Parts: sequence; C-alpha cells; structure tokens
Amino acid sequence: MSKNFDVVVIGGGPGGYIAAIRAAQLGFNTACIDEWKNEKGGPAPGGTCTNVGCIPSKALLQSSEHFEHAGHAFADHGIGLKELSIDVKKMLARKDTVVKQNNDGILYLFKKNKVSFFHGRGSFVKAIDGGSGGYEVAVAGAGPETVVGRQVIVATGSSARPLPGAPFDEDKILSNDGALRIGAVPKKLGLIGSGVIGLEMGSVWRRLGAEVTVLEALPTFLGAVDEQIAKEAHKAFVKQGLKIELGVKVGEIKEDKKGVTVAYTDAKGGAQSLAVDKLIVSIGRVPNTTGLNAEAVGLKLDERGAIVVDGECRTSLPGVWAVGDVVRGPMLAHKAEEEGVAVAERIAGQHGHVNFNTIPWVIYTSPEIAWVGETEQQLKARGAAYKAGTFPFMANGRARALGDTTGMVKFLADAKTDEILGVHIVGPMASELISEAVVAMEFKASAEDIARICHAHPSLSEATKEAALAVDKRTLNL
Ligand code: FAD
Ligand code: NAI
Repeated sequence: MSKNFDVVVIGGGPGGYIAAIRAAQLGFNTACIDEWKNEKGGPAPGGTCTNVGCIPSKALLQSSEHFEHAGHAFADHGIGLKELSIDVKKMLARKDTVVKQNNDGILYLFKKNKVSFFHGRGSFVKAIDGGSGGYEVAVAGAGPETVVGRQVIVATGSSARPLPGAPFDEDKILSNDGALRIGAVPKKLGLIGSGVIGLEMGSVWRRLGAEVTVLEALPTFLGAVDEQIAKEAHKAFVKQGLKIELGVKVGEIKEDKKGVTVAYTDAKGGAQSLAVDKLIVSIGRVPNTTGLNAEAVGLKLDERGAIVVDGECRTSLPGVWAVGDVVRGPMLAHKAEEEGVAVAERIAGQHGHVNFNTIPWVIYTSPEIAWVGETEQQLKARGAAYKAGTFPFMANGRARALGDTTGMVKFLADAKTDEILGVHIVGPMASELISEAVVAMEFKASAEDIARICHAHPSLSEATKEAALAVDKRTLNL
C-alpha cells in the first residue's frame, strides 16, 4: 500500500531538504526521499553539500589554514612553536564529526517540521490520471515502499564528471569525494581543472605540504571572475607555491603502483607529462538523473541529462518541479535552497521568487574570492556605461592588524544612475563581506548609498565603503 503525501521531494541535499521543510511549514503533508548512506549504511541527508562538498571542504580548509598560519604567520606575532606536525587522521576525523553534526541536524529538522523521511533511492513509477492525481514514486530502501505525491519536487543534485578513459577509483584518481579523504599528505598532487574545487582542494593539500600542480584547459585563469580580481588571485596563489598551467590539453592518464602519470600538451604545443601520487579531477559536474526513471513519466531532460525547467522550476510535467544542481544555473548550495523555498511557496499559491542576478559566489581559498553581479568584462561586452572603484586591503587598518593585506574590493556602478552593477572582492573574509553587496543590490542601492553608511572601525568592511567612495574618486584613506 502506498503512502500519500501532498508533496514528495526526491533528494535531501540543500535544494531538497530545504524545499521539504518549507513545504511542511506551509502546511503540506511532506515526504523527503534521500539515498545517501553514512559509513554504517545509515541515512546521511544533506547531499553533496553536507557529505562531500561545501561542509567537509570548508572544515579541511580551516584545518589546513590553521596549519599554515602556525607554520608561517605565528612567528610575526612573536609566537614560537618548537615542532609543528599535522595528524591527517585526526583532521579527517574532525571533518567527519562536522559532517555528522550537519546530517543529524537535518534529521532533527525533519522531525521538528514533521517531514516524513525515507532512506533509499526514489524513482518514478507512473503518473496517476496523467499527473492530475499525482505521481507514484518507488523507494528502494531497506524495505521497498511506494509513495504518492500530489506534487513532486526533484532535487537529485549532481556528481563529479570523470575524464574519458580515467574513471574515479578514489584511490589514485579522485573525485571531490576521494579528495576529501586522502589519508596522508601526498608528496605530489595533480589537479585537472583550475575551477572552484581545483583551487579549494589544491589549497588544502598545498598548505599541508604537497607539491601541487593544476592543469587547466582554458587559456584564462578563472574566466568567470572579474579579470582584475582573477589576476590578483592568480598572483597570490602562484606566490604561495601553487603551480597553475593554463591552456593545456590533457591526454592519456596512466595509473601504476606508484601513482598516476598525465600526458598533456602545454599552451605552446609541447608534449609534457606530470607524474603525481594522487590526481584530483575537478572538471565540472553532471546532473544526477540516472536512477530516477524519468522515462516512466516522460520527464523531459536536456542533452546534458539535466531536467528541463522554466524560470520558476516547472518541469515538462504538471505537478513536477525540479531545483538545484539537477537543473540549469549555477551549481551552488544557496541557489538550490532558494529554488527549493520558492517552489514550495509556488505550490502553496504564493509568489516565490529567486533573483538570479544577486546570487553570490565565493571561492574559499586564501585569499578568498567573492562576487555578486556583473564583471567588468561583462559590462564591456554589453557596451554598458559604468564607473569602477577599487580599494586595496593594504590600506585598511584591520587587514594590517590581521596581517592579511592581499587583495581589494571593487565596485562597478552605472555611470548615470550610480546603481551598483557588481561587487568583486579578493582578500580576507571576502565570503562574509560580500553579503553587504548582495543586500545593497537587492535594494537597488547606489554606490553612494554604501559610501554614506557608517561602517565600524577598524573593520574589513571599511574597504567596502572605501571602494564605494572610489567610484566617485573620493577615497579617504588612500
Ligand atoms: P545535492 O547536494 O547533490 O543533493 C542531492 C541528493 O539527492 C543527494 O543526497 C543524493 O544522494 C540524492 N539523490 C540523488 N538521486 C536520488 C534518487 N533517485 N533518490 C533518492 N535520493 C537521490 N556550493 C556552495 O554554495 N558553497 C560551497 O562552498 C560549495 N562547496 C562545494 C565543494 C565541493 C567539493 C563540491 C563538490 C561542491 C560544492 N558546492 C558548494 C556545490 C554544492 O555542493 C551543490 O551546489 C549543492 O549540494 C546542490 O544541492 P542539491 O540539493 O541540488 O544537490
Ligand atoms: P568548475 O566548473 O568550477 O571548474 C572546472 C574547470 O575545469 C574549468 O576551469 C574548466 O575549464 C576546466 N576543465 C574542464 N575540462 C577540462 C579538461 N579536460 N582538462 C583541463 N581542464 C578542464 O568545476 P569544479 O571545480 O569541478 O566544481 C564544480 C562545481 O561545484 C562548481 O562550478 C561550483 O558550482 C561547485 N562548487 C562550488 C564551490 C563554492 O561555492 N565555493 C566549491 C566547490 C565546488
């Protein structure tokens, strides 16, 4: 006998679990199905983000940053350490505890909000009365079950894309999953792709002592980032010892007992080879739609396997919605969450809304990189009349006191109206500083609005105010 729900959510990552909670808050009898297993085979909701993404990567970034500070920055503060060591096992165990706290937190939230949780793989069985009666979804868990949802939200996320001919074995050729579980600091670590994962994971293991080489296909570094900011970040990463080769063409990848050898052609067309102990492949992610049995109900997928949705996350089927990494748009946890909330509200007849122009991006390297809105190159490409203002952390008192003066804040504003069009930051705590810019852009603020707001002294946020002042060429501290 199947169990009937108003809303069935397939996938318990940030898109799915947040959609389920919001749907339950709105009074719907809601179920969430998620198949992720912890090491004991038990449920581990939270998806990629919680288990092998945002949360564990930030835990390791924190540990490795402490290690780097202890080894390099402490001496400037007069703090002496006789011997410095890293217990990788302990560091990984701490990361696992952080992950578990988040898994448990989600299970608690399901209980609190009366969301019925099903542990197992959900797949479509059939549409009832052409979808007007809802959809039957089978759950292949401990005991097979069937649920019926009057409305179904698909939030099945994404998985790492392997290189052709080099499948992930999570021992030597690693996806994000294996990259977060390397048991000892490799002497030589290779990364394919200098995108977000490449830079974050490369930073973790470099800080701990690995010799890290990143091979990137594109000739430009961080093409989606404002060029001036990307250039500054590139300079900092190279100074730290990250080897980044741009414009390469990766060829054959061979594994042997010792490690992995990557044959590649460099930007000048020369044949090269890179021998490493471990290789992380971070060349983007693919939507998870296999196993969903989309064909059974005729759910439309695109050529990448992503679920086709409109601007409001409606799929090709009435009453079926899709959110997060499994649909178009940036693969970010907060984008998935916002879509999940908006869909639950739409189901309730409300006007859920996601502003795709104000979704912030953060790369949690050191220096951090964060931005919202358009880059200077995008403004140029669309022929926009704009003004730019920058302010370096070098001239910020708090950054000097922190001993972290790399980078800058950059504002881009409309030349006529002064409306903020983009804010780009490379430097300390960029991940936190960007929120002010997001709020400002949501309220359609001008650069002058930020320039006139009182910011605490001494704080990094004063660099934001000064960059806004710089748009009008009237910085006070530079
Ligand atoms: P997912 O989190 O992938 O969740 C989907 C869930 O559905 C999974 O639990 C999966 O097992 C389950 N599932 C799939 N198919 C089925 C099925 N048929 N039945 C039942 N369950 C199913 N984003 C950020 O915003 N900030 C970051 O700092 C950040 N760091 C990242 C670091 C790494 C290393 C990686 C890999 C990603 C990172 N991301 C980050 C991206 C972020 O993790 C994703 O954008 C986010 O997890 C997408 O959420 P989602 O709910 O769409 O999918
Ligand atoms: P990515 O899209 O960020 O970067 C992939 C890089 O690999 C690109 O620079 C691309 O040009 C390069 N590439 C592709 N094919 C290649 C090839 N054959 N050889 C060499 N280089 C190649 O993807 P990544 O790093 O795998 O991360 C996936 C997604 O996960 C990100 O786009 C982001 O959405 C999300 N993420 C977000 C984080 C955050 O918000 N801080 C952290 C980590 C991941």
